[in-house]
Amino acid sequence: SQAQNYTFVVTEVKYTRLCSTKNILTVNGEFPGPTIRATRGDTIFVDVYNKGNFNITLHWHGVKQPRNPWTDGPSYITQCPIQPGRKFTQRLIFTFEEGTIWWHAHSEWLRATVYGAIYIYPNKNTPYPFPQPDAEIPIIFGEWWTSDVNEVFRQSMESGAAPSVSDALTINGQPGDLLPCSSPETFKLNVEQGKTYHLRVINAAVNLILFFSVSQHNLTVVAADAVYSRPFTRDYICISPGQAMDVLLHANQEPGHYYLAARAYSSGVGVAFDNTTTTARIEYSGNYTPPSSPSLPNLPDFNDTRAALDFITNLRGLPERAPSQVPKNITTQIVTTISVNTLPCPNGRTCQGPNGTIFAASMNNISFDTPNIDILKAYYYHINGVFKPGFPRFPPFIFNFTGDFLPITLNTPKQGTRVNVLNYGATVEIVFQGTNLVGGIDHPIHLHGYSFHVVGYGLGNFNQSVDPMNFNLVDPPYLNTVVVPINGWAAIRFEAVNPGVWFMHCHLERHQSWGMETVFIVKDGESENLRLPPPPPDMPPC
Ligand code: C2O
Ligand code: CU
Repeated sequence: SQAQNYTFVVTEVKYTRLCSTKNILTVNGEFPGPTIRATRGDTIFVDVYNKGNFNITLHWHGVKQPRNPWTDGPSYITQCPIQPGRKFTQRLIFTFEEGTIWWHAHSEWLRATVYGAIYIYPNKNTPYPFPQPDAEIPIIFGEWWTSDVNEVFRQSMESGAAPSVSDALTINGQPGDLLPCSSPETFKLNVEQGKTYHLRVINAAVNLILFFSVSQHNLTVVAADAVYSRPFTRDYICISPGQAMDVLLHANQEPGHYYLAARAYSSGVGVAFDNTTTTARIEYSGNYTPPSSPSLPNLPDFNDTRAALDFITNLRGLPERAPSQVPKNITTQIVTTISVNTLPCPNGRTCQGPNGTIFAASMNNISFDTPNIDILKAYYYHINGVFKPGFPRFPPFIFNFTGDFLPITLNTPKQGTRVNVLNYGATVEIVFQGTNLVGGIDHPIHLHGYSFHVVGYGLGNFNQSVDPMNFNLVDPPYLNTVVVPINGWAAIRFEAVNPGVWFMHCHLERHQSWGMETVFIVKDGESENLRLPPPPPDMPPC
């Protein structure tokens, strides 16, 4: 393994999209930001200089960071933000990952423009479990607001209303041919007939789960969240914010021009996000006359829950290349509701959430209150009063979670900084139960510091006496972000062998802002090499 160094300078730069120009926060002036390339087993140091005007943190999404939560990045969870003018050197430790993951800002909504890819190659002499592709291409989905994203965030937090939807969905930072002032810059992928392209697909969108497909071509998923999967071929992909997939595209059609397109999938609300259909062009080399405009692929409808579930629940792991075994005996079982709720309007404010409330969101009826000293520091130095253990292991109420009956008590969560404390080596099962309180929607739940085996999905209410019998303990996918289906549940398992403080949250940014998250504290193991080392000397001060 090797050590490498990257320099990330956070700066504001002017960018023009959709016929208008604004300042955005970037890394090194690039949008999307720079790509990190690593080999399995590497340690990488990133010197992060904050030359912007905002407090910021950077997170390496899907890098397990064994015994190194110190540089994981979520603000007020593992560190205080890097203040303007300061520097923080973050260490990235690559252990089991192979494939594609990504990095992004992890404070407020800064990740809307501050994100980039991470490619992790297998060790020399370890081949891919698929034929070596001819070229690799990033396909990074994002969202663009014409107005200032910080303002969008601030306004929605102040008014308690839902944030305004973005003005464009983007591919590699570009809205694509269908949107105004965009087509000269549409992302183009030049291909040669007969070759195979390795698409490194990342959903960096802020609030949108996506379908994407390529007209007249199939897509074969070979890895998800930097773990190999059984090759899975479909004419469309469904990918949630947080997820990354390695996808093979065979250029096996008549030379021509084809669209790769993506569209928001909306399980809950009945609105088609037309402004968020985005395109990139695939152009074959050769001597032919292309059509003036390529045809769009057949994307599933924006509300096609079946298409989404069919894709999500049929993805399989590749046991022969899996970095970890599925735990069979569970020591710690957690069942948690995940809900969008509302809270009463605080005194002296005008609130624009449903019926004059403010939106909130919760896990097991607790809406997470972000502290102003990071939880990792409070844990390591025994600072009292920052967080409380005792996150409930089971929902406080049993009722028909996915029905129409809405107990008002559940609709008003408690606010608090409740954390889940796990013993080192605990074998954990978590069942996420979606609810229909304010509105049902799929939730992509992400866990820091770990990947987990997704052993089951189902519709309706989880049934403890029946559903576990159908769990897949043979070849479940091993992911860091799981989509909990609308009106349903998902079950994950992992072994708590990475001591530290690890955030778990919905990766739809608006739900995270509303409190749909909790924290796991995994205690040290017995021996010295299973304990948390002290922090690096340059931790940002609070
Ligand atoms: Cu992709 Cu907590 O983050
Ligand atoms: Cu959510």
